[in-house]
Amino acid sequence: MRSLSLAVGVSLLQLACAFPAPPWPNTTAVGDAKAGPADLNDLAKKAGKMYFGTAVDNPQLDDKQYTDIAFNKAVFGQVTPANGQKYMYTERSRGTYSFVEGDAVVDKATAAGQLLRCHALLWYQQLPNWLTTGNFDNATLITIVQEHITAEVQHYKGKCYAWDVVNEALNEDGTMRKNVFLDTIGPSYIPIAFAAAAAADPDVKLYYNDYNIENPGAKSTGAANIVKDLQARKIKVDGVGMQAHFIAGSSPSYDSQLQNMKNFIALGVEVAYTELDVRITLPNSAEKTQQQATDYANAVKACVVTEKCVGITVWDFWDPASWVPSTFKGTGDATLFSAGFEAKPAVASIAQVLQGTT
Ligand SMILES: *[C@@H]1O[C@H](CO)[C@@H](O)[C@H](O)[C@H]1NC(C)=O
Ligand SMILES: *[C@@H]1O[C@H](CO)[C@@H](O)[C@H](O)[C@H]1NC(C)=O
Repeated sequence: MRSLSLAVGVSLLQLACAFPAPPWPNTTAVGDAKAGPADLNDLAKKAGKMYFGTAVDNPQLDDKQYTDIAFNKAVFGQVTPANGQKYMYTERSRGTYSFVEGDAVVDKATAAGQLLRCHALLWYQQLPNWLTTGNFDNATLITIVQEHITAEVQHYKGKCYAWDVVNEALNEDGTMRKNVFLDTIGPSYIPIAFAAAAAADPDVKLYYNDYNIENPGAKSTGAANIVKDLQARKIKVDGVGMQAHFIAGSSPSYDSQLQNMKNFIALGVEVAYTELDVRITLPNSAEKTQQQATDYANAVKACVVTEKCVGITVWDFWDPASWVPSTFKGTGDATLFSAGFEAKPAVASIAQVLQGTT
């Protein structure tokens, strides 16, 4: 969701190198070819899922220790470009497209044989200024949106397993979030976006993606209503992406996650955890790190036992690359690996779930 900008990622990375060693045990070697608890994608596939994946952002592409893990298919079978496919990077001025940032991640993942979840075609943040300040009329903005989606989906045609077509269109109460598209076009911007994506690539899965839709409630119902509206209009929609930006100790319960997925699946769509992370209110402790492991494992288990939950994506796997500290002040340590690439207990607990041993 609201990820680091490319520039912020670099400064965070530098910052993180000054952090002291983490308090948790260094349990698991990663990135090597041996089968082991860190081969999360291999384990997920054995458990019947399509993938276990991660978001990857551009600043980390020069870090060999990072890329050795990120593009190791045994560990991560799927990659989501964290920022590079967003509107502000792909259409910096109207009608002028650049896919350089997105391609940098996509090309590495494709070479590694990893699936791609592509992210995101329409979102109210990280939009180019020409778009937000253009005062376009309805018909013009519809054309702009259709041209953007057509160009980007065609560029990545055949490379993406799925597209997050519309991201975060809902308020917490399930009503439509105010943004330039809603203000100018009205709620029909969503079917317009899905129809354009379907026309540009009939084979790619089309997802609605949002946060706080991981347990039943008004916002989850709002997401279901978006799916129903598209279906009523006979417009292709294939899945609901549950971002799952959780907080250790206050994540949705396992049972409510199961019920929530059932509600979506009853509409005839698949589901996925698309941006899973579990942030900790600092300072961290062994107890909080253990709670984090439990929360990660519950989400993964809920997906594993739900047939139409196709896979789990973590929103980066390395604390220095995480968007959390800059977005939620006083929290952090949200990913699976510490600054020193040491696996946290969450890695072992996820592996146990995938192996069916919990
Ligand atoms: C943690 O494990 C990795 C991989 O085996 C190893 O390279 C690293 O030196 C270990 N770190 C510590 C602090 O023991
Ligand atoms: C914008 O145009 C579309 C397509 O004609 C229409 O469905 C929609 O209601 C219009 N929105 C507004 C706010 O007039």
